[in-house]
Amino acid sequence: MNKLTRRPCVAGNWKMQGSYSMIETLLGELHQQEQYLQGIDVILCPPFVYLERVAKMLQRQESTFLLGAQNTYCEEKGAYTGEVSAAMLKDVGCQYVIIGHSERRQLFAESDELIARKFRAAYHAGLTPILCLGETQAERVSGQTFAVIRRQLDSVLEVAELNCFNRAMIAYEPVWAIGTGLTATPEQANEVHTTLRGWIAESDPKIASGVRILYGGSVKASNAKELFCEPNVDGGLIGGASLEGQAFLSICHSATYDT
Ligand code: PGA
Repeated sequence: MNKLTRRPCVAGNWKMQGSYSMIETLLGELHQQEQYLQGIDVILCPPFVYLERVAKMLQRQESTFLLGAQNTYCEEKGAYTGEVSAAMLKDVGCQYVIIGHSERRQLFAESDELIARKFRAAYHAGLTPILCLGETQAERVSGQTFAVIRRQLDSVLEVAELNCFNRAMIAYEPVWAIGTGLTATPEQANEVHTTLRGWIAESDPKIASGVRILYGGSVKASNAKELFCEPNVDGGLIGGASLEGQAFLSICHSATYDT
């Protein structure tokens, strides 16, 4: 299975941004050009409180866009004030969930172990986890990139079955490139993606060749195409640029095979 057999995917991570009026405008803009985005999965990941609104609007537009959340908790239900379970996300219409974003790891002190448990819970609830991995600037400079990413991947594989990657996706997001305007070069991104795929192939070549690996970190309309052309880059996880209709559409279009 090569790149052409993996369906490209672009996910927009809105982070803690959005409002009812912004949703109206952005989804209106996206919908006008949705018809030109063939053969690709486009996922919108708004904050929890807007999931249902976005789900309803996508339904009304008869949109093919998919819905994702930015986080979930690892338990099914119970006394976990402020948390949201994967089953609840499913209930409001989510199909995807971002797990282990570096902002969760850094600002909210999420450990590899917690992330692994969230990943497993999301998968078992029927969601598609998008597992984020990536090194900091200091880790890259000191030559630890591959050790860090391997640790992040292995901690998930200790808790969840490799088989989960028949459905789950990976997003390689170098921390130094997130929201900084710095982007990994296409070669840097592809090097990590190829290594990740190689590690999975050591256990199961079939799963490895099918798993979609997205790149994230300052992807813009101007650099998306060169990144997405790389043989092991199957699309992107987009932060800032996913809030601007035209920029996001252009990025999505760069991931289709007819560019
Ligand atoms: P960015 O964010 O595109 O704004 O760099 C990417 C992400 O955090 O997923």
